[in-house]
Amino acid sequence: MTTPIVAQKAPYSHEVAAGKTYYWCACGRSANQPFCDGSHKAVGMAPIAYKAEKDATAWFCGCKQSKNAPLCDGSHRSL
Ligand code: FES
Ligand code: FES
Repeated sequence: MTTPIVAQKAPYSHEVAAGKTYYWCACGRSANQPFCDGSHKAVGMAPIAYKAEKDATAWFCGCKQSKNAPLCDGSHRSL
């Protein structure tokens, strides 16, 4: 398992739609943050699927260190 890289030291807010699945970039290498663009294939990692339960603003982890991935848990504050 390769170590993820920090895409940014803050979460990304995104309006999610009920019932839709999003693929969060776990490796930090996507050019389409916070979502996967396939760049993980070079480093042997994989995205994490997130299915929205309702229309809402989701805060996706940008630092890739969250213990509650794909959502931010505040871990970026200690980086
Ligand atoms: Fe990072 Fe797919 S590009 S997990
Ligand atoms: Fe990663 Fe907040 S952005 S824990």
